Amino acid sequence: MGTIFDRVSPVYDRGMQPLEWLIFRRLRERVFSSLNGDVLELGVGTGVNLPLYGPTARVTGCDISTEMLNWAARRATRAAVRLVQADAQDLPFDDDSFDVVAGSLVFCSVTDPLQGLAEARRVLRSHPRGQLVLLEHVRGDGLGALLTEVLHPFWHAWSQDCHLNRDTVKSVARAGFRVGRLERHALGVVQVIRATV
Ligand SMILES: C[S@@+](CC[C@H](N)C(=O)[O-])C[C@H]1O[C@@H](n2cnc3c(N)ncnc32)[C@H](O)[C@@H]1O
Repeated sequence: MGTIFDRVSPVYDRGMQPLEWLIFRRLRERVFSSLNGDVLELGVGTGVNLPLYGPTARVTGCDISTEMLNWAARRATRAAVRLVQADAQDLPFDDDSFDVVAGSLVFCSVTDPLQGLAEARRVLRSHPRGQLVLLEHVRGDGLGALLTEVLHPFWHAWSQDCHLNRDTVKSVARAGFRVGRLERHALGVVQVIRATV
């Protein structure tokens, strides 16, 4: 049957262009170019972040959608990259396998974010402390929260998988991570979350 992302994969990058130009591009460039070592990128999608990694990153990109992964496989990248079809809620990797677990715009659509975050924690190394780095759209604060709550039912009915009103940083803390620096952008609706095991 496939996921909604299997079906949207041919138009995903084009559909994202306005938002990339408005906000995501510059955040992606800063966040993903700084990651090193053994990196697991969850929900790698069409691989938009793959060209941003430097040559010292060894990246495992996983996604539940085979069609999104087919697009990711076409990306040019300076890093060593392998792509794996996998559910973030049930990762096919050993405990203590990665220095960094990263993702962008992914915990909005993982069905059970706490289970996905528990898996991220399991596969991260504890010495030195593994890092979780997420660029996410979330519920936001104040006016941002009001807007996302109002829009969420319509957006969710159309998109099927994506939630506009998740409080991902709260889930990160609930999953047992130590939350570090939190960046809030666009009324807090876009956040860069950094945490350690
Ligand atoms: C909104 S797209 C983001 C793609 C890419 N990370 C980006 O920033 O453009 C969400 C991605 O997460 C993937 N995804 C959703 N649920 C997942 C899960 N449980 N496990 C792995 N990937 C998942 C989807 O297939 C899709 O490629």
